[in-house]
Amino acid sequence: MRHYDSIKRVLVTGGAGFLGSHLCERLLADGNDVLCVDNYFTGRRANLAHLLNNPNFEVLRHDVTFPLYVEVDEIYNLACPAAPIHYQFDPVQTTKVSVHGAINVLGLAKRTKAKIFQASTSEVYGDPLVHPQREDYWGNVNPVGTRSCYDEGKRCAETLFFDYHRQYATRIKVARIFNTYGPRMHINDGRVVSNFVIQALRGEDITLYGDGTQTRSFCYVADLIEGIVRFMDAPAEIVGPMNLGNPVEFTIKQLAEMVIELVGTKSRLVYKPLPSDDPKQRQPDISLAKEMLAWEPTVALREGLAKTIAYFDKVLRNDAPPARKSPTI
Ligand SMILES: NC(=O)c1ccc[n+]([C@@H]2O[C@H](COP(=O)([O-])OP(=O)(O)OC[C@H]3O[C@@H](n4cnc5c(N)ncnc54)[C@H](O)[C@@H]3O)[C@@H](O)[C@H]2O)c1
Repeated sequence: MRHYDSIKRVLVTGGAGFLGSHLCERLLADGNDVLCVDNYFTGRRANLAHLLNNPNFEVLRHDVTFPLYVEVDEIYNLACPAAPIHYQFDPVQTTKVSVHGAINVLGLAKRTKAKIFQASTSEVYGDPLVHPQREDYWGNVNPVGTRSCYDEGKRCAETLFFDYHRQYATRIKVARIFNTYGPRMHINDGRVVSNFVIQALRGEDITLYGDGTQTRSFCYVADLIEGIVRFMDAPAEIVGPMNLGNPVEFTIKQLAEMVIELVGTKSRLVYKPLPSDDPKQRQPDISLAKEMLAWEPTVALREGLAKTIAYFDKVLRNDAPPARKSPTI
């Protein structure tokens, strides 16, 4: 039995989102006191419904672009829309969430002396010129494109984390998260896994952008959450940036074919032009995480996809509350 004093008070920003809800679940299961903060831009209360009766769990509607005054021991900063259709909906707000949000949570970490985790992204590598991407690669990012609000916002957030670390000795953990998928992804997020699964479940044609030969690596959410928690618990000198993702590469066409097979649909593949700034290849080098955290993904794409398909099937059958069609703010 844990003594009350040993229970950590953990803040999760963006806790009602896809990754955030799984993280809250895991932190509660580990015996922490969890405060979830979210403005429900892309997150949903339904993602947290199963946690609300837990006496160690609290939810606060709050926008991280405004300061927050709470007492905490650890902070996981996940608040930020992650899918292009969501972060391009209000690009100025996206940069604000990344930059003002980072300043606010770092200020909180400085005041409370909390350890703080930043959910950065593989997008900081832009359209990479080296493959796979290691953490010492500085990236190839368009500063003025339609993805820049997210890519450059996240890059600036990384800068802020490292400056707080150098200037104020703030205890930081910066992870660069690669494509992650699983139950509770937003149904209308336009991301490749959810798109394909939903089109296949509806028996619609599956839309591939480009010729389908561009590659992606897909990490199942349970693997990612394990990596995040291990990183947070790692010794103080391990600050990152650290890639977290699954290095096993698939072409988009292979993914589509696997989804069709698992769903057992007659959907056909249809091809459309690639959107601007869409990276052709993305694959993490996770040597650092393997060495420092003894972590690597264990869930195969086929296994993770089957769980994701079962989730979306339930959502589409209305057993789970429906998602909103688009962001509401
Ligand atoms: N899912 C991935 O593959 C992936 C990859 C790289 C990085 N990330 C990062 O991980 C984090 C979580 O991503 P996700 O996939 O769960 O996305 P998500 O959109 O499901 O979750 C983001 C959450 O942040 C909340 N939010 C947005 N703006 C906010 C604000 N101003 N104040 C408070 N809350 C706000 C949203 O309502 C949502 O609940 C993001 O920071 C994202 O950039 C995710």
